[in-house]
Amino acid sequence: MVGKLKRFVTRPFRQLAAIQSELEDQTKLLDARMQSVIAGLDNQSQMLAERLNQVVQGMDNHSQLLAHKLEQIIQGIDHQASLMNERFDQLRQGLDNQSKTLTAQLGPIKRAIDRQPHLVGERIAEAIRTLDRARFPTTARNIDTTTVPDFQFGDLEPEQFRELLLHRGAVMLRKATDPALLDLIKQKIDGLFAQYESAPEMRSGTYPATISSNDLGDFWYQLRRSHIFEQTFKQLSGSSYYDIIRGTGLWDFAAHAFPEYQLAESIDCNCRRVTTGDLPVMFDAPVDFHVDAQYHSIYNLSVNFWTPLAPCGRDAPGLQVVLLGIEETKDYLEFDFAGYDAKPNDIANMRHFRCYKEQLEQLKQNDLAKCLWAPEFEKGDILAFTNFTMHATYCTPEMTNPRTSVEVRITCQ
Ligand SMILES: [Fe+2]
Repeated sequence: MVGKLKRFVTRPFRQLAAIQSELEDQTKLLDARMQSVIAGLDNQSQMLAERLNQVVQGMDNHSQLLAHKLEQIIQGIDHQASLMNERFDQLRQGLDNQSKTLTAQLGPIKRAIDRQPHLVGERIAEAIRTLDRARFPTTARNIDTTTVPDFQFGDLEPEQFRELLLHRGAVMLRKATDPALLDLIKQKIDGLFAQYESAPEMRSGTYPATISSNDLGDFWYQLRRSHIFEQTFKQLSGSSYYDIIRGTGLWDFAAHAFPEYQLAESIDCNCRRVTTGDLPVMFDAPVDFHVDAQYHSIYNLSVNFWTPLAPCGRDAPGLQVVLLGIEETKDYLEFDFAGYDAKPNDIANMRHFRCYKEQLEQLKQNDLAKCLWAPEFEKGDILAFTNFTMHATYCTPEMTNPRTSVEVRITCQ
């Protein structure tokens, strides 16, 4: 019994000891396992560190390779850029050369193009000359060339008028217009000048410009030179300068004289006020010899029915002409349709003439003094002359009165 009890008591102790021993074994195993895990982890760590090192090294190598590659690329780009610059330089040089070659080639072409208008002008002029030769024979027929062409308007036939204009350059037509009409026109012209004299130029916008220019600056320039053009006169006075030649049949007379032409009013129809000495406002000084074609048209024949509005040529400046035919005047002035090189002071058509030959001294040297004629005018007398007739203001120190005249121009078209 005791043995049984003893075994009964000692059995749990033995079991406990067995468990304890088991636990100790397990602990040892766990320790060993732990050691093994730790050792494994250490190895893994080392391996990872090694691997990391390798990766870093690899990345360093890659970085170096990339940097090297980048360097090569940059070098390549630099090289390309310098090659491109070189190429651009070559291209630019090539273009410059091309441009120079083109400019050199274009020069003659441009000159040829510039010359075309002259050539066309010459062709037109030659055609006009041919027509003129047929229409205006160079030999005067049935006219007296030994005395001055001074006629009562009613005594002259249109054919004689034509011949005289063509071959002597001018014709005096006495009593060709109505003196009362001239008084009326002078009154209206004086009224307009009085109006303009009191009008400040800043208000010039309220006044119409000339027909030849809508430039108000030019309008006042013309006014200061005592020119009121037909357009302005007609608009403001209700009359026309052309009444001077229409009323007495002079327009129709001219139309009969030049039946091959259509006669037209000229844009260069205006009045002038001339005086000697100090110039009052809106008066002009005497003008030297010239032909109107050097300022107006060289392509059309035009006739100036020069009409003083009061007697002149004695106490007031008159007009003098060179009695020379149109073709002779053109020859004398060496008229050239193509024109010469323009001189610095040349305006309008002056370069088509040797204008220096219009000077009085030149006229005398060329034996043309004998052709000078400065008639006296009564109110109603009209001197007709062409745009190729040399003429000038005629004035002497005794002519102290001012003179107003109207240049009633017609154009043969
Ligand atoms: Fe003139």
